[in-house]
Amino acid sequence: MKNVLLVGADGMLGGELRERLEKIYNVTGTTIETLDITDKDAVLAKAKEVEPYFIINCAAYTNVDACEVHEDVAKKVNGDAVLNVAEVAKEVGATFIHISTDYVFDGKLDVDKAYTEDMEPAPVSAYGRTKLLGEQNAAKAEKYYILRTAWLYGLGGKNFVKTMLKLSDTMPEIKVVNDQHGSPTSTTTLCEIIEQIMEKEPAYGIYHSTNEGFTTWYDFTVKIMELAGRDTKITPISSKEYKEMYPQSSDRPTNSQLSKEKLHSVGIYPRAYEEALANYLKEELK
Ligand SMILES: NC(=O)c1ccc[n+]([C@@H]2O[C@H](COP(=O)([O-])OP(=O)(O)OC[C@H]3O[C@@H](n4cnc5c(N)ncnc54)[C@H](OP(=O)(O)O)[C@@H]3O)[C@@H](O)[C@H]2O)c1
Repeated sequence: MKNVLLVGADGMLGGELRERLEKIYNVTGTTIETLDITDKDAVLAKAKEVEPYFIINCAAYTNVDACEVHEDVAKKVNGDAVLNVAEVAKEVGATFIHISTDYVFDGKLDVDKAYTEDMEPAPVSAYGRTKLLGEQNAAKAEKYYILRTAWLYGLGGKNFVKTMLKLSDTMPEIKVVNDQHGSPTSTTTLCEIIEQIMEKEPAYGIYHSTNEGFTTWYDFTVKIMELAGRDTKITPISSKEYKEMYPQSSDRPTNSQLSKEKLHSVGIYPRAYEEALANYLKEELK
């Protein structure tokens, strides 16, 4: 059994990934309490103890709006600390798997097009800037996979789907942005992609790793309500209107659709987002 060091193992993605990988690998999962990745000596000591074949980083500062106010803290976790993990991975000969985001792109691409891995990132938010730095640092590991995901939701964390369900418990109407395009992605699908990357070990590099299919936050919410059997009225609004309602909110890319052609080329085919959402809701609403 290969050894795996999984950092950020109690986050929304990390928690589910840990549970799944434990069935196939010898997993050491760490949390911020047991291993703060901003402490390089601690990361190195842990890696020497575990002797990992893979080091997976699910740790991050993920509150997109808070990143605007605390960009220095976000940079430490999403950017600088990734260099610690990458350098340690290189030193102990491990393959580094790092999770990044569609928010590294500016979103100005025509909405009938999707970003490929070789397109130039140009983040419009503090979160995106710090995650881009993280990507640049992750690549220093040499043996690395950077998996860019998007609009992530899962059972073990705060996320958009849960927020919409909670709002629909009390509100007759929810206003949702209808001019941002992307791929909602369930943590279960992302875990499946990570497992296949670990099994197949394709060429190192960046892989866009989301559910299949594209939508807007508005259409996604309509789908959530339909599948959850709720009759809450969902009203479309523009990003501009949303920003007027919440001036502190971070700018977000208009189009962050990620092409999965490269993932397909290595034999990985994620499920459609509608199917992943239905599976998630079955568990969430139990
Ligand atoms: N959520 C999304 O919509 C989304 C979209 C695209 C990409 N991603 C990426 O997907 C990955 C997983 O996201 P997620 O939603 O599962 O995140 P999450 O639930 O916020 O989990 C992140 C974990 O990292 C921990 N952490 C923070 N600082 C740390 C440090 N210095 N050392 C060790 N651990 C630390 C957090 O601990 P505390 O909770 O105690 O701070 C938390 O347990 C991240 O790389 C994220 O950027 C997420």
